Amino acid sequence: MSQRFCKIFLTCCAISTFATVYSAATPDSDELAELQFPNEDALKRIEEVKQNIFFSDELSSSEYHDDLDIEMGLLENGGNYEWDLLIFTQQWPVTTCYHWREEDKDHECKLPAAKEFWTVHGVWPTKKGHIGPSFCNKTANFDINLLSDIKDELNHFWPDIDGESKGDWLWKHEWLKHGTCAAVLEELNNELKYFSQGITWREGFQLSKILGDSGIHPDSNNTVVAIHAALVKGLGKNPSIHCLYDSKKDVSYLEEIRICFDKSLNATDCDGVKHGNAVSIDYPGGTVITNCHISKPVHYPSLVPNRRRQEENKWKFPIVNLYKLVQFIMWFTL
Ligand SMILES: *[C@@H]1O[C@H](CO)[C@@H](O)[C@H](O)[C@H]1NC(C)=O
Ligand SMILES: *[C@@H]1O[C@H](CO)[C@@H](O)[C@H](O)[C@H]1NC(C)=O
Ligand SMILES: *[C@@H]1O[C@H](CO)[C@@H](O)[C@H](O)[C@H]1NC(C)=O
Repeated sequence: MSQRFCKIFLTCCAISTFATVYSAATPDSDELAELQFPNEDALKRIEEVKQNIFFSDELSSSEYHDDLDIEMGLLENGGNYEWDLLIFTQQWPVTTCYHWREEDKDHECKLPAAKEFWTVHGVWPTKKGHIGPSFCNKTANFDINLLSDIKDELNHFWPDIDGESKGDWLWKHEWLKHGTCAAVLEELNNELKYFSQGITWREGFQLSKILGDSGIHPDSNNTVVAIHAALVKGLGKNPSIHCLYDSKKDVSYLEEIRICFDKSLNATDCDGVKHGNAVSIDYPGGTVITNCHISKPVHYPSLVPNRRRQEENKWKFPIVNLYKLVQFIMWFTL
């Protein structure tokens, strides 16, 4: 029981840290404004969290267009390129496109033609408790010709949905940033093997089907716990679930689902993996790793919602509402 309490306490600490960052970013948010940490340690932690939010989020458009990546790659691993797991990330393109368009109304996005279609974002080697490693081979090149045998599958399952990208930008980026680190495994030691593995997993782990089997389809609102239960039922492993939060509308959108694999390329639990601003939250059905609001519905959109009249950069990383979270946890654990 005391262990449980400890866990709850730690979760709350993590959450309130995020909440503080959040309130600093939006002074008008009075609900969270009281959550202040006056001491130095806490401020340092907040700085760390901010760093993580900025640098670790693989979804933001900055990930797609950020040369800082290279510096971060160097900073993060200091030449140590060891990793434990592969994170296989699929994204819900509707949410990504919506996010980009809200940030920049002229941002072009290429949605897949197929309906209810999740696309691969990447296969990311990861050391538990860390982000990365990345950019493990500074002399590596990307040669699109090596992928000619699977070009159609890549275009289908692993497309670059960013209409602003040029040519093979996403694949090149994924290979140089992540593939060069995965390449220590013989099964993934060249472009063709690495990208083929992503395709194989995309075919083997069809999120639309897994979610659909539990009655979760686009154009619905679900708790993250319901999404989690559906995924665990379909995968037999614990994934992580990522949202983008539109603070203007106060709506969380399902954005990415990440499945972890061990070095034998078998699916495994994502526990212990650092996923940007996601946290682990216990509930009676298990432990959900997520950055989605735990106590609010998560919207799984079927269409990019209509453009707003007034564009504002109001996208934030979802911050679990501390008060409601505490209520939620108490409800289930006390
Ligand atoms: C890095 O990439 C280059 C170019 O493809 C290759 O020749 C070299 O073997 C790679 N180094 C490692 C350590 O994999
Ligand atoms: C889901 O929630 C959003 C945001 O509150 C709302 O606009 C939408 O109508 C809801 N959709 C369904 C199917 O309930
Ligand atoms: C990985 O999965 C394969 C096939 O399901 C199985 O034979 C093998 O033992 C697994 N490896 C590990 C390390 O669990």
